[in-house]
Amino acid sequence: MRQHRGLIEGARHAIAHPERARRYVRRLRRDALLRLKHRGDHLGYYAEVVGADIRQGEATAVGNHERAAWRKVGRKQFDYLRQHGLEPQHTMLEIGCGNLRAGWRFIDFLDAGHYYGVDISPDVILAAQDTLVRKSQVEKLPYLTVVKDMSFAFLPAERFDWVHAHSVFSHCPLPVIEECFANVARVMKSTGTFDFTFYRTEGKEFGRLREDFYYRTETLVAAAARHGFNAVLMADWEGTHPQSKLRLTRH
Ligand SMILES: C[S@@+](CC[C@H](N)C(=O)[O-])C[C@H]1O[C@@H](n2cnc3c(N)ncnc32)[C@H](O)[C@@H]1O
Repeated sequence: MRQHRGLIEGARHAIAHPERARRYVRRLRRDALLRLKHRGDHLGYYAEVVGADIRQGEATAVGNHERAAWRKVGRKQFDYLRQHGLEPQHTMLEIGCGNLRAGWRFIDFLDAGHYYGVDISPDVILAAQDTLVRKSQVEKLPYLTVVKDMSFAFLPAERFDWVHAHSVFSHCPLPVIEECFANVARVMKSTGTFDFTFYRTEGKEFGRLREDFYYRTETLVAAAARHGFNAVLMADWEGTHPQSKLRLTRH
């Protein structure tokens, strides 16, 4: 049913934006092939989607550092967390760090070695390293790591003050998000804060291709509760960005 609705939404989108229809059909074909290749492994599938975009120079998933929008959205993420209490001595795990659109600002601000960025796409992590060099930040010694799942088994327990994921769960099915909640509960300090954005719908939940997923707030709040988190929809973020923001805490 969800998939059916996703196809209808996709068709509507293509009709509303005929200039994008050709690109949409191309993506539909590519998605079908990659889904066959990565049966049941969403992260493997999506890492290839992102990598293919980057190699084709589209970089739609991470944006381009030369664009004003890249700088603006990165600054927005940073300013928001600063207003909400981010301090230089804090430690941060950024899930789906992309090419460090916001990450380079966090790295700049945090004490050396306090930033840990992970992403499922090796191509993106290489692009993140380029950003680091371009911003002359190698002395800050951030960690940048490719992951293939949401286990974070290589990270110590109770380590991070902040866990941040911007425009990541908008590309994840619910089981991936739940796996993430389960393991963030281990690596985040009990006093820590986990902020993430998501595409919010008040109607039926649906996915577009296997790339974009729309959730009801209640679905994610209930999933968070299953892993011991309180979840709050951030009212001061609402309407300032196409995605909504949820904050998870355990205190
Ligand atoms: C739209 S980009 C956003 C990147 C970055 N957060 C930003 O705001 O610029 C989404 C990124 O999340 C990564 N990603 C998607 N699902 C992920 C997951 N479950 N775990 C880690 N990275 C993921 C993708 O490879 C991509 O680099």
